[in-house]
Amino acid sequence: MRNEYLVFGSPDISEIEIEEVVSTLKSGWIGTGPKVNKFENDFKDYIGVKHAIAVSSCTAGLHLSMIALGIGSGDEVLVPTMTFAASANSVIHTGAKPVLVDVNKFDMTINIDDIKRKITSKTRAILPVHFAGRTCKMDEIYKVAKEYNLKIINDAAHAVETEYHGKKIGTLDDISNFSFYVTKNLVTAEGGMVTTNDDEIAEKIKIYALHGMSKDAWKRFSDDGYKHYQVIYPGFKYNMTDLQASLGIHQLKKIEQNSVRRREIWERYKDGLKELPLFLPIEPDENTRHAYHLFTILLDTDKVKITRDELLIKLHKKNIGTGVHYIALHLHPYYQNTYHYSLGDFPNAEFISERTLSLPFSSKLTDQDVQDVIDSLIEILG
Ligand SMILES: Cc1ncc(COP(=O)(O)O)c(C=O)c1O
Repeated sequence: MRNEYLVFGSPDISEIEIEEVVSTLKSGWIGTGPKVNKFENDFKDYIGVKHAIAVSSCTAGLHLSMIALGIGSGDEVLVPTMTFAASANSVIHTGAKPVLVDVNKFDMTINIDDIKRKITSKTRAILPVHFAGRTCKMDEIYKVAKEYNLKIINDAAHAVETEYHGKKIGTLDDISNFSFYVTKNLVTAEGGMVTTNDDEIAEKIKIYALHGMSKDAWKRFSDDGYKHYQVIYPGFKYNMTDLQASLGIHQLKKIEQNSVRRREIWERYKDGLKELPLFLPIEPDENTRHAYHLFTILLDTDKVKITRDELLIKLHKKNIGTGVHYIALHLHPYYQNTYHYSLGDFPNAEFISERTLSLPFSSKLTDQDVQDVIDSLIEILG
């Protein structure tokens, strides 16, 4: 058994990020400033999009996206039930209602037939979650969105590198939101980025992210001299700081190199686990790029006696950390009590919720770490 605990999603931070953070601390400017500006420009170039606005989290970005599109009370937004709470909560915070949709059983992305069933006269937008870094079936989503005049707000929390038909998710209509939370492929501790090609949306998001002020703080106090600001919307405090951007600038530089390593680990897992009673992640669709954010397996409960929860406890006892992505939203008390969902409403998402667990997956893992995970699973399930 391993001596050291293997955490599920450990950030791959090296000396260069540490030096940049220290230099920012010494510069005297640790709030939103030139480093945020640089990170936004670098991210914009990487994605190939017109606007990138750095924010305090993906959750904040999702909320701002709804506001910028004018979504609010009386509106409905279609959200897959197999996602993190933030996807639905960001809708709720605008006064609108998240309407949950089932996902496909094995690619775990939003199911198009269920989208069609859930559209009403109040539906304003679809929120595709590019689960684990795998793109949703965008052509089909576009077709429905066009037919019913719906906006698309991409939850690209897992999907910095993801591409659909040669284009990065961040370039697709209407808005995309990325997460730089500690377990993500690109880490700023907490943080997010909103991307769009629409000038008006970008302007609104930028202003709403910082109190609704017409000029942002770093311009206000820059060495150009103090400038008055005007409050033009009732905004939020959702800006990113230069401390976070110091991490982001270097994390972004390494994203392609780290992606190669993640792919290697993915292949090792697939090969090492192929004889076990598990459903392994399916291959990405043709003409798409997977971001390889999560390596999520489903326990084949017809073939084994133990449950998923027992399996993750056994792995924990062998010093292997895991994650669960996710217990579907409609199985949580808040959404059940508020929107009257219950067990049986979303069969595919329930199939996943009962069987899923995510293995340690980070470009930082050594070959030995990966082998320890494989050996532990073979010992428990083989
Ligand atoms: C699918 C999904 N959406 C949104 C979020 C929220 O991201 P953040 O923590 O940056 O707000 C997460 C975070 O884990 C996520 O996994």
